[in-house]
Amino acid sequence: MELRCAVAVLLSASLCGVRAMLWPQQLALEEQLADQIAATLQKIFTNGLAAHNCSVFISSAYEEMDADRVILVQRVLHRSLYQPNAPVPVVLATEMNRKITAHVFTQLLFVQSAEQAIAIAEGVNRNRMCLIVLLTSQPKRPIMARIFTYFMQERYNINVVILVPGVQRVQAFNVRPYTPTSCTSVEPVEIDINEGDLWDVFPSRLKNLHGCPLSAVVWDIPPYMRIDWKSSDPMDGLDGLDGKLLRIVARKMNFTLRLIPNEPEGLIGGFSFMNGTFTGAYKMLRERRANITIGCAACTPERSTFLEATSPYSQMAYIIVMRARGGYSIYEVMLFPFEKYTWLLLSTVLGLHWIVGSRWRMPSPILAGWMLWIFVIRASYEASVFNFIHNSPVKPSPRTLEQALNGGFRFITDHATYRMTLQIPSFQGKTSISAGQPVDVFDALMKAPWKTGAFTSRAFLADHLVRHRKHRNRLVILAEKIIDNMLCVYFPYGSYFAWEINNLLFKMRSFGIFQHHSQILAWNSMPTTTDTDSPGQTIHSSTESAVTGFAESMSFVLAALNCLMGALCVSIVVFGLELLSQRRRWTGLAWLFERV
Ligand SMILES: *[C@@H]1O[C@H](CO)[C@@H](O)[C@H](O)[C@H]1NC(C)=O
Ligand SMILES: *[C@@H]1O[C@H](CO)[C@@H](O)[C@H](O)[C@H]1NC(C)=O
Ligand SMILES: *[C@@H]1O[C@H](CO)[C@@H](O)[C@H](O)[C@H]1NC(C)=O
Ligand SMILES: *[C@@H]1O[C@H](CO)[C@@H](O)[C@H](O)[C@H]1NC(C)=O
Repeated sequence: MELRCAVAVLLSASLCGVRAMLWPQQLALEEQLADQIAATLQKIFTNGLAAHNCSVFISSAYEEMDADRVILVQRVLHRSLYQPNAPVPVVLATEMNRKITAHVFTQLLFVQSAEQAIAIAEGVNRNRMCLIVLLTSQPKRPIMARIFTYFMQERYNINVVILVPGVQRVQAFNVRPYTPTSCTSVEPVEIDINEGDLWDVFPSRLKNLHGCPLSAVVWDIPPYMRIDWKSSDPMDGLDGLDGKLLRIVARKMNFTLRLIPNEPEGLIGGFSFMNGTFTGAYKMLRERRANITIGCAACTPERSTFLEATSPYSQMAYIIVMRARGGYSIYEVMLFPFEKYTWLLLSTVLGLHWIVGSRWRMPSPILAGWMLWIFVIRASYEASVFNFIHNSPVKPSPRTLEQALNGGFRFITDHATYRMTLQIPSFQGKTSISAGQPVDVFDALMKAPWKTGAFTSRAFLADHLVRHRKHRNRLVILAEKIIDNMLCVYFPYGSYFAWEINNLLFKMRSFGIFQHHSQILAWNSMPTTTDTDSPGQTIHSSTESAVTGFAESMSFVLAALNCLMGALCVSIVVFGLELLSQRRRWTGLAWLFERV
């Protein structure tokens, strides 16, 4: 408010001055010009900007123009801004500071040369919609072409419209960079802004790129991206979830792809730090050597600070996968129903019974009690063995990350996922990199010692299981999920493709394209998590469980037979030794057996 008052005072003061200086005829002309410009701006402000809650930044640098133009601008501002209820919030300042940048979406410039426009635009670090009023008596087309060249090639800003006022009407120009004959056209094209709707002022010009090539940095990362570098048509060479996505976007926007390998080759994505140090694909985008990158690229604040990003188009969950601990062996099962101390007690009682029983006969009530006790013990033993075989439990695995860490687990991961562990303190010093692709980490896990967990995403696991169905019973997922991550598509800073492609991705997401594509992964046969109590039941299908149940029972019978055979062997050996001790020569043995 204060600002407005100040300007109003200034304006009225200068307007008085003007009247004294100009000829009446010239004055009328100026008035008419100011009317035209003010009417056009008013139309755009009311029907375009106000409808979308956009605020406007006006640089006070217009004061550097020639005196008569400054007066003209002041008149225009007076007419279009100081109405009783101005439609949009306006910031009039020398410079746009950071705080204001976040809230202001439109920039209004009054200039008389291309240099002025460029100088003002340089002071604004984020790309905004630009309305440029060109007040010059020189040939206008070359100036406009220069302005458009700057905005298109230096700023990647396509939302620029130049208003050229005349006494009759105000003409509006923008560029159409992609035409059937050119991919970098900066020729001013006159447009009709109609009622000043935002879509009339800044029409979408990226719906059809007329087969122009866009360069995409891509790298192999199944199941997201698979590239056949030898394919003659880059479109056919792309596969995988993100590969298909890029193909759909290219078809929709009618551009051709030029695939650029990541640098150094084989790198997945790249490092990015808040201080602006980037590597790999992100470095290439910062240096503007490509137009787009996609391929399981996580959305991070440092990347969206220095690059242009879409909103997240997909999500991925990070988990820890461990080898399933085998079930108990049959001999362990035979020992299992009673704990160590129960077995100890049992054998002590039996020993006592044997020693006492060999000396004197027990009274019959005690004997009956003894028999009953033996019966109960036997029945409970059998029942719990049966229960055990029926449920086939596995040895317990850790359920939370903390339990795993306390249990002395170490982790392996691929070099791309490793970057994420740098932000999680618990992983520090406990994680090693396994060479190759993220999906190869499971092969390494299979060979690693038991106390190893793979830090990876569910999608990689699902992809691995497509090729190795059998592994699903040999792996378990730590019950505690570690983190979720979002995937974004990246562009060079300011790139005008970001908005257009973001819209496309949003539509595709609403349409369910990603779920549709990712159905080829084995989501339904994922391993169980470590908090599932009886994985035996959930991971076997019913026919499978009948078969495995039968096999397990049989192996139990076999084990019992083995035990019996063992006991028989022992008694035969004892019998044989006793027989031998009858002979004269083995007096030591005879003495021993007499004792026993
Ligand atoms: C604009 O802002 C007003 C008030 O803050 C709000 O009620 C309205 O829905 C907004 N309009 C749009 C298009 O965002
Ligand atoms: C896409 O671009 C090519 C090359 O300019 C053109 O022949 C074709 O008609 C365009 N397709 C569409 C749907 O406009
Ligand atoms: C940026 O930060 C990273 C990690 O903290 C460091 O390795 C790199 O040297 C830094 N770069 C600059 C230019 O300071
Ligand atoms: C597209 O990439 C090329 C380099 O491959 C670059 O010269 C051009 O400026 C980029 N255009 C956009 C709009 O990003």
